[in-house]
Amino acid sequence: MNERPAVTPGTTPQLSNSLRELDNAHVWHPFTAMSAYRREQAPIIVDAEGFHLVDEERIRYLDGHSSLWCNIHGHRVPAIDAAITNQLQRVAHTTLLGLSNAPSIELAAELVRRAPSRLNKVFYADCGAAGVEVALKIAYQYYRQRATPEDSRDKFIYFDGAYHGDTIGTMSIGSISRFKNLYSPLLFPAVWAKVPAASPDHPLRESEQLEFCTHELERLLIEHQGRIAGVVIEPLVQAAAGINVQATGFLERVRQLTRRFDTLMIADEIAVGFGRTGTLFACEQENVSPDILILSKGLTGGYLPLAATMITDEIDTAFLGEPWEGRTFFHGHTYTGNPLACAAALASIRLIDDNAVLENVQRVTAVLKQELAPLKQHPQVKEVRQQGAMVGIELHNAGTPFPPERRVGHEVTLACRRRGVILRNIADVIVLMPAPAMPEQLVLELCQVVRDSIQDGLN
Ligand SMILES: Cc1ncc(COP(=O)(O)O)c(C=O)c1O
Repeated sequence: MNERPAVTPGTTPQLSNSLRELDNAHVWHPFTAMSAYRREQAPIIVDAEGFHLVDEERIRYLDGHSSLWCNIHGHRVPAIDAAITNQLQRVAHTTLLGLSNAPSIELAAELVRRAPSRLNKVFYADCGAAGVEVALKIAYQYYRQRATPEDSRDKFIYFDGAYHGDTIGTMSIGSISRFKNLYSPLLFPAVWAKVPAASPDHPLRESEQLEFCTHELERLLIEHQGRIAGVVIEPLVQAAAGINVQATGFLERVRQLTRRFDTLMIADEIAVGFGRTGTLFACEQENVSPDILILSKGLTGGYLPLAATMITDEIDTAFLGEPWEGRTFFHGHTYTGNPLACAAALASIRLIDDNAVLENVQRVTAVLKQELAPLKQHPQVKEVRQQGAMVGIELHNAGTPFPPERRVGHEVTLACRRRGVILRNIADVIVLMPAPAMPEQLVLELCQVVRDSIQDGLN
């Protein structure tokens, strides 16, 4: 029997002092301007019901960004809850260092079965950035240990707009200056492929963009021939760049070029994997099989932290040998392959089939496209970018960016919140990322709130 107070649609929350005061006194929130945060009284989430989050005041909010791009089936999903509970009755954690556990083995087999061909081995970590760090270290070590002697490649190519995490290694291959510039002296040198994104201000036909990008990558591969250990790419969409959608065919060209120059293609599907772009993996849309594939976020349905770095047998072979030969990959995290997280992931992946989630994504995609189309005529909307269930609405002021002190993107998300929807902006880009399993009716509601809130946020 639920004795909690009734849930009401969102307005300004009046929270009990204790949790609010403790939050403001002790919690430092990531990617959050803390002075403003402490004034704004953000909801303190205590519950969830399906695709809604419920705060301490029993106010319901539609989770419009999949709890930071990781939720797939909604919250409190019985099959995932049961998988975790069952595993909890067996063992919550044990190490993968020289030992194994059942869910991590079953999950690895399931991932190999579903991922693009050749990716037969799985290395686990516990967040996206760690999964990318694993990929970089494996690529670097691979060239030193594979059969060809004297091959000591030491550089990675990354793209304009790239984001792969916030650790020192992943910042080194990221291009978003406000996240990384301060730390420049700490970062390792990497090769930046500067490719333009098409926009109304710089109209670039998709075919031109494709040619430009391909040409630039080829030029860099020639310039640094024999030094590139990997080309790191977010397939189809750069999410943190503000939902930058790549030209069709670019991924395939990257595959062709990395093959031609005998360098590894490292696909970071942390944001785009598990249905968000319309297919289980984004690489499928261009029939691309990378040499290394990194998964996280949606891997557990958005339940528990887990990352999987998938590699080919060819790479794996370079790490084989007698223990004293020094070919071991000396990397690991305490919670690598955590049984609870792997059990959640297995249940989530099975639900994608059972609930025909990939078919639902097609409906979500169509509703977003249709309902957000009117915004393209809005004088202060620069661009609406979409790939599958990922949308970025970029705001501008008659062709120029709004002054940062207006925090226009943030104001729009506050207006959404007052209407009962949680979203997050990236500067003046409003990001919509409904869960791939979200029902059409809720997606309609999400779009309506965003349209109304853009008007409020700009007033
Ligand atoms: C493409 C991509 N790679 C890596 C990461 C980092 O993942 P995590 O936040 O789990 O470290 C993110 C996070 O947003 C991402 O979008």
